[in-house]
Amino acid sequence: MPTHLTLKNKEEFAEFVAEVESRPGYTKPYAFALGVATCWQRAVGESCKVLDTRFIAINVGQNYGTWAVLVDAIDELSSSVDLTEAETFRHLMDRFHPFLGEEGHNNIDALRVMSSLVDEDPEYIAGEVRSRVPVLVVINDPTEAPTTTTDAYLRLHLLSLRYVQPRQINLDGIFGLLNNVAWTNRGPIDPEAMNIFLAFDNISGESIGVHSVDKFPRMIDYVVPSGVRIADGNRVRLGAYLAEGTTVMQEGFCNFNAGTLGACMVEGRISAGVIVGAHSDIGGGASIMGTLSGGGQEVISVGEHCLIGANAGIGISLGDYCTIEAGLYLTASTPVTLNADGATTVVKAKVLSGASGLLFFRHGETGRVEARPHSTTWGGLNEMLHSNN
Ligand SMILES: CC(C)(COP(=O)(O)OP(=O)(O)OC[C@H]1O[C@@H](n2cnc3c(N)ncnc32)[C@H](O)[C@@H]1OP(=O)(O)O)[C@@H](O)C(=O)NCCC(=O)NCCS
Repeated sequence: MPTHLTLKNKEEFAEFVAEVESRPGYTKPYAFALGVATCWQRAVGESCKVLDTRFIAINVGQNYGTWAVLVDAIDELSSSVDLTEAETFRHLMDRFHPFLGEEGHNNIDALRVMSSLVDEDPEYIAGEVRSRVPVLVVINDPTEAPTTTTDAYLRLHLLSLRYVQPRQINLDGIFGLLNNVAWTNRGPIDPEAMNIFLAFDNISGESIGVHSVDKFPRMIDYVVPSGVRIADGNRVRLGAYLAEGTTVMQEGFCNFNAGTLGACMVEGRISAGVIVGAHSDIGGGASIMGTLSGGGQEVISVGEHCLIGANAGIGISLGDYCTIEAGLYLTASTPVTLNADGATTVVKAKVLSGASGLLFFRHGETGRVEARPHSTTWGGLNEMLHSNN
């Protein structure tokens, strides 16, 4: 625990920050965040299983004055620190004294909310214990794998809040860090306690809604990005990256670490790792292959101004201005008859991976899959339909 120290004005605060930053071993992290984790225990005193984490203040490449104060106040910094001592919050607030009367300091606001939870009584659910624990989460190097559940949650938030694009932050081992959770209208619950809870609930006549049992929550329960429409919240997992102007219709789906880089229409599936460029349309029921299961190796990108027709699918990447005929499933090994520059050749689809300006279709008479340069491009996204204001 640090010594008690009240910084009287902003000059003293600046001197204090400079002194902390000059200490041996001091480093600035890539990101740090203040939030609240939901902790589940079989009984008081048992180990805590983190069901989720919400963040009140996220700092990426900024607010290093706040970081210096945290470094000084917290004895041992790891990727996730539980802030459970009221004394710690008092020390922090005394150092932030010059800013306490001002508006617009997210980290201070977060600390206020977090400190109010320190003495909160836990809830008893189905004989087990759920509590809210204030946490500080730190990512020093985004190329290193996450090490804790709260660290994994921060990375998913960074994606959905558009701090990082898909594939720009290491998520290795995330399935091992996230716990399986029953996501309910009464907050996250350990699935193993659900049956007893549901039985009690029915008997007492109260209603509980369980909308999924999964390692990932719905994105929109944690993050609502600006300028998007999501017709069914269950179809977008936390960690999805949806650019401004994107619409995900009921049939659409977007996994974590995947998404759209500009205004797009999504009525099909965007698998983990997949990136879709601006002004592209993933038609109803279309599928873009992922690499999480089934042996697919290529992490797929779709360029700008592409159309993947209804019920079509791709196992290769597309460049810009490509169209896949409705119903055509193009895997990496599909033989494709390429008609270009007056010549006809047959190649495996993967040879054309990433190429721009191609129309792929299954010929209505021969049954062969063909590709040819687009003579015309498809009509593009309907401006009025895709305005998300
Ligand atoms: C593939 C598709 C775009 C072709 O549409 P189109 O209007 O025929 O397009 P084009 O005229 O540009 O086709 C180029 C050429 O390919 C030919 N062609 C297209 N599909 C063909 C097929 N299945 N068999 C043989 N030739 C075909 C066209 O006849 C045309 O030949 P031409 O230049 O000799 O006249 C269209 O059939 C399609 O599947 N659209 C997807 C719509 C969709 O699903 N949207 C999402 C809604 S949720």
